Amino acid sequence: MDPLDSLLDEAAARFAAADTPDALEQAKAAYLGKQGLITERMKMLGGMDPETRKAEGARINRVKTAVEDALNARREALREAQLAQQLAAEALDVTLPGRGHGLGGWHPVSRVRERICELFAGIGFVVADGPEIETDFYNFTALNTPDDHPARSMHDTFYIAGTDRLLRTHTSPIQVRYMEANPPPLRIIAPGRVYRVDSDATHSPMFHQVEGLWIDRDVSFADLKGVVTHFLQQFFEREDLQVRFRPSFFPFTEPSAEIDMAWGDRWLEIGGCGMVHPNVLRHVNIDPEAFRGFAFGFGIDRLAMLRYGVNDLRLFYENDLRFLRQFV
Ligand code: PHE
Repeated sequence: MDPLDSLLDEAAARFAAADTPDALEQAKAAYLGKQGLITERMKMLGGMDPETRKAEGARINRVKTAVEDALNARREALREAQLAQQLAAEALDVTLPGRGHGLGGWHPVSRVRERICELFAGIGFVVADGPEIETDFYNFTALNTPDDHPARSMHDTFYIAGTDRLLRTHTSPIQVRYMEANPPPLRIIAPGRVYRVDSDATHSPMFHQVEGLWIDRDVSFADLKGVVTHFLQQFFEREDLQVRFRPSFFPFTEPSAEIDMAWGDRWLEIGGCGMVHPNVLRHVNIDPEAFRGFAFGFGIDRLAMLRYGVNDLRLFYENDLRFLRQFV
């Protein structure tokens, strides 16, 4: 018997036995490859006389087409088997009960930030903000900070190598940006993240401040004391809260003071303040003979620690739900 007659059955059997795409491609080569049985038969046609060649050619072609059909059918079957296997492996039972949804809540630092802004909004302050990646100019120069001021050192400030940029060390640059864009009189409250090279129980390399600024024709240090004291008494809901202004120095205010508040039998420092330095006003084209005002900066995290009785700042940043849930 001519082997061509049994070739289709034999190929189909070998294709069926191939159980991976690789094995199937190898089986294919035995028939349809360069040295495959069918290809070899085709090559022999050249030596035949025209009549025989025509009949024989047609016969080989029929077998070849049938073998290709068998091959394609097996390829398809393998693909489907693989898909079925993948679907089974990745099966998702949509009837299983869910894992439960915890209700979210405000982070204590965010709650305190919102409360501060609300209290100041109540006395006419507008909320402002600015970029956390600042330029040396806004963070220091425009705030009258000399080149050799210790705050500019690498020990205190995160600089961005190869640029004039840094992570802002305080919210005070927002004062400058706001005054550049808005003519006086103005009154803003500006909360945000700030960064310093510092880390222990009461210092985190990232923390939060809120800046306040009031510029008008006739704003005095007495107004500063009144606004800050009033705010703190409201914030802590204690009308008798004692607040102290301790003489200090900031390059961008003159005179300057630290803001301390009585806590038990101690004074705690919670911010800095002062009358805006004339050079800062000049930098933003405000005439210091016509306008003046005050600025202050509080540590929001510090206020949150006091309000909630938290003694380690790092607890605010560990994201331990057992801690955070207590504030919701
Ligand atoms: N920017 C100062 C600091 O971070 C605080 C401050 C703000 C002081 C505004 C005076 C006026 O220490």
